[in-house]
Amino acid sequence: LGGAAAGIGAVGAVGIDAAIRAGEEQPAEGAKTSGSEWGLEPFYGVHQAGIATPPPALTTFLAFDLLPTTDRGAIERMLRILTDDAAKLTQARSALADSEPELAEVAAHLTVTFGFGPELVRRVNANRLPAWLSPLPAFSKDALNNATSHGDLLLQVGSDDPLSLSHCIRMLSKDARTFATLRWSQSGFRNAKGSQPQGTTMRNLFGQVDGTVNPAPGSEDFAGVVWSGGEPEWMAGGTSLVLRRIAMNLDTWDMVDRVGRESAVGRTLSNGAPLTGSEEQDETDFQATNTLGFPVIATESHIRRARSENTSERIFRRGYNYDDGPTTGADGNAGLLFASYQADPVAQFVPLQQRLDDLDMLNEWISHVGSAVFAIPAGCAEGGFVGEQLFQ
Ligand code: HEM
Repeated sequence: LGGAAAGIGAVGAVGIDAAIRAGEEQPAEGAKTSGSEWGLEPFYGVHQAGIATPPPALTTFLAFDLLPTTDRGAIERMLRILTDDAAKLTQARSALADSEPELAEVAAHLTVTFGFGPELVRRVNANRLPAWLSPLPAFSKDALNNATSHGDLLLQVGSDDPLSLSHCIRMLSKDARTFATLRWSQSGFRNAKGSQPQGTTMRNLFGQVDGTVNPAPGSEDFAGVVWSGGEPEWMAGGTSLVLRRIAMNLDTWDMVDRVGRESAVGRTLSNGAPLTGSEEQDETDFQATNTLGFPVIATESHIRRARSENTSERIFRRGYNYDDGPTTGADGNAGLLFASYQADPVAQFVPLQQRLDDLDMLNEWISHVGSAVFAIPAGCAEGGFVGEQLFQ
């Protein structure tokens, strides 16, 4: 029965799709359904949404591989269709041929951010490949799984509402199907919207306050770290995303006492203050020593190793927890989707990760298991499509 029911479901879904695409019972294109307008993030703009935007509770990263037949013209068609979907859905309007238009009524700060892998750029114009757009160099402690790495097209979809997220992902995936196959999908979470005052730094699954030292969105500092000045030219106003899937061993972390856990990072667990201060935002004093003359913040601690003397080696971090649930008896499959945005990943991310790979107390409990680099083009205006600068 299960098989038969699944079969009928599948045929039914195709039938409905076909009917809608043929124009039967189709809601007016882009109709604004009667739902709430609460929580709309602008789609059009100089930069794509989803980077400087306050982080939503949920984010799913989807990577697609282009079909061999998807050439420059098809890539443009695909981007036009996906841009149109994203522009409508993020504004709580149903997408073209939306089979469940009511599900578009709540956007809950829905954002869709597009990224390009090297193969997509090459197929459009190989001369325009940014020098930094390739897989990262291998780090000695990497344990990368190809199934959660790389990809030609990235869609980063964020929302505060799981239903809105699910519907948007389905619409985008359906429209991408003609041009590409899904390579991987990775979902992460933070606290539910409203459960904490706005602006509270998130906690990761080790219980640490994570994200304190970060350029402030909207500031000049942020612009300098994140937005590309046009290297290459079509990337002006864009950025890059390095996504690292980092497994965290919660079972062995459990065995460490609080003092050990706090010295591994250099910050307290209670409020994330540096061990040389009392409040989360206090300046870190790496020179301070204890009565025995040892540094209060250990030289091998995560924050000491992650702080570069070279201020251009900085990134904008926006992590999401993942947790695939406990398994019987063994370690669970949990960790951090570490999303890092910067104008140039080779100049900014790589030296940082190299230092952490060389030495970081946290390495005892973490392992990098996935990696991908994408060029995130600038935003577009109404009537345009994301990535159009690459085609000009
Ligand atoms: C700071 C956790 C991976 C770069 C921190 C802090 C925590 C933390 C708790 C202190 C609070 C804060 O400022 O956010 C983790 C965990 C990781 C991880 C659990 C892996 C599962 C990474 C990676 C990078 C990185 C891969 C970069 C390649 C940084 C930077 C800081 C930081 C730049 C700020 C350091 C400063 O004070 O200047 N991290 N982190 N982290 N982390 Fe990580």
